[in-house]
Amino acid sequence: MHIPDLTLNDGLSFPVLTFGTYKMNGKPGVDGMKSAIEAGYHALDSAFNYENEGAVGKAVRESGHKREHLRIASKLPGRHHKFDEAILTIEESLYRAQLDYYDLYYIHWPNPKQGLYVEAWKALIEAKKRGYIKSIAVCNFLPEHIDRLKEETGVLPSINQIELHPYFPQEDMRAYNKKHGILTQSWSPLGRANDLLTNPVLEKIAEHHKKSVAQVILRWHHQLGCVPIPKAASHKRQMENKSIFDFALTEDDMKNIASLARPDGRLKGQDPAVYEEF
Ligand SMILES: NC(=O)c1ccc[n+]([C@@H]2O[C@H](COP(=O)([O-])OP(=O)(O)OC[C@H]3O[C@@H](n4cnc5c(N)ncnc54)[C@H](OP(=O)(O)O)[C@@H]3O)[C@@H](O)[C@H]2O)c1
Repeated sequence: MHIPDLTLNDGLSFPVLTFGTYKMNGKPGVDGMKSAIEAGYHALDSAFNYENEGAVGKAVRESGHKREHLRIASKLPGRHHKFDEAILTIEESLYRAQLDYYDLYYIHWPNPKQGLYVEAWKALIEAKKRGYIKSIAVCNFLPEHIDRLKEETGVLPSINQIELHPYFPQEDMRAYNKKHGILTQSWSPLGRANDLLTNPVLEKIAEHHKKSVAQVILRWHHQLGCVPIPKAASHKRQMENKSIFDFALTEDDMKNIASLARPDGRLKGQDPAVYEEF
């Protein structure tokens, strides 16, 4: 089944499901990504720090798809937030992937103690003007960080990619993004395959709909209005994870899944207010 598209706040069309590529490197990475594109995923998530931009570019070139039909993303690491370094890093990202442009480029983490994310944002704005990037976005930004981008540059991100899964549903952050016309994208949407996948509440819902727990979770993201980024190495799981458009969760299902939320539900306690990644 075809993955439908939505439109970002800057006009770029974007599929409602993205393929995650963290830990997909080298030849197995290229093969896995080609298999995902063949399965129907048209958006690939990546990052300078995943060290797989080369694999992403190779998968794109070997996929047989026209470049303009795909949405390819990478991310600026925290160690290169200074304006000139950020521009050079984006250029390096392009050379690594051997692509002429990225559809999306994110600031990977705000790193508020370092305090250079507005400078990094100005570099993304400049890179967009130069044609390196179609759409500029952020990951792991809190309201106070996005408010500063708006105050100091007048430009809002198209997407805020945040940790989001049933144990950590991020209700407030989702509401903030929605209010500002920013799409919420969910990283580790399956909780990185932790005990969520054997959670009895989810198993019961899955049984009722004759779907797998992973499909129920991904459908939950979709019904919340978020774009999940599941990573799966095998074609079988890639197909399974995209088969979420032929059923719907009921209001009760959604309520029961909401009851799984935990205040400390983050996988690794990475709170962007204090956590920094370089
Ligand atoms: N912006 C950020 O700071 C940030 C942080 C983390 C991640 N991300 C992005 O988000 C993507 C997804 O997050 P993630 O990789 O951490 O976790 P995830 O997608 O929640 O989980 C991936 C794990 O789930 C397994 N899996 C996938 N489909 C399955 C299925 N149908 N049934 C059972 N197990 C299944 C995978 O195994 P196999 O691969 O062996 O099938 C893998 O172990 C990343 O790849 C990356 O692109 C962004």
